[in-house]
Amino acid sequence: MVKIFLDSAKLNEIEKVKSWGLLDGVTTNPSLIKKASDEFGGNIEEYIKKILKVAKGKPVSLEVIGNTYKEMVAEGEELFKKFNRFGKNVYIKIPVNPSFDESSEGDFDGIKAIKTLSKKKIPVNCTLIFTPEQALLAAKAGAKFVSPFVGREDDFIRKKYGVSFSKDDYFPAEGQRKKGKVLEDEGIVSGVDLIKETRKVFDREKIKTKILAASIRNKEEFRECIIAGADIITAPFDIIESLVNHFKTAEGMKDFTKDIVPEYKKLVDG
Ligand code: G3P
Repeated sequence: MVKIFLDSAKLNEIEKVKSWGLLDGVTTNPSLIKKASDEFGGNIEEYIKKILKVAKGKPVSLEVIGNTYKEMVAEGEELFKKFNRFGKNVYIKIPVNPSFDESSEGDFDGIKAIKTLSKKKIPVNCTLIFTPEQALLAAKAGAKFVSPFVGREDDFIRKKYGVSFSKDDYFPAEGQRKKGKVLEDEGIVSGVDLIKETRKVFDREKIKTKILAASIRNKEEFRECIIAGADIITAPFDIIESLVNHFKTAEGMKDFTKDIVPEYKKLVDG
């Protein structure tokens, strides 16, 4: 069954999702660590240990910050050595391409780092995936998870064609039209389409690497990523919290409560 990860470094959110019995894993990145920084109380090391203990046995992704092969491997090893013993659950997050220059040919530092860490049995979550080809390369290098960035793919397509939007706006899975033309990026028409196409490649190639849909912005996208074939969805706390709600569910509860006859109440009270 599809797994639900929490995309947050906030301990209170991790504990809450765990208390609902829904925590299959946690994803963090430097931006999410920054968002949680008020809660460290000055000691990030102890804070991360607490996260790992709460999520014991469930994958917790910790991202490297370097952008050379050497740095990423050294940091990945360090994070794994320092933290894995607390919950046996550290996954090292490596960007598929750490270069700041999108047009540079690069020297595949991300892919090489994934290969080295994977050979050392350090599990890798390859992040910042925007094409099925990037996902394929990461899988070939041995990544356990690949993380296509669904919401950011939608943002990019809209920006590219000058469509104004706000971050949480729904973006149609089948793509958006402008002047009769479907907007796209490298043949991908939406973040959900990125998941769908990656799924096709992985199924065709019988790849075992899990597709982890990241950068999820709303409930519809959460559902569409499952239908598109994601193995794991990582979502922010507010989205996971909203999954259980519906107006008609609450309305139905009020109606049923109003209709309880005393005999039925007596029966259930015992
Ligand atoms: O897991 C990646 C995620 O944290 C990025 O989300 O909404 O900043 O694109 P977002």
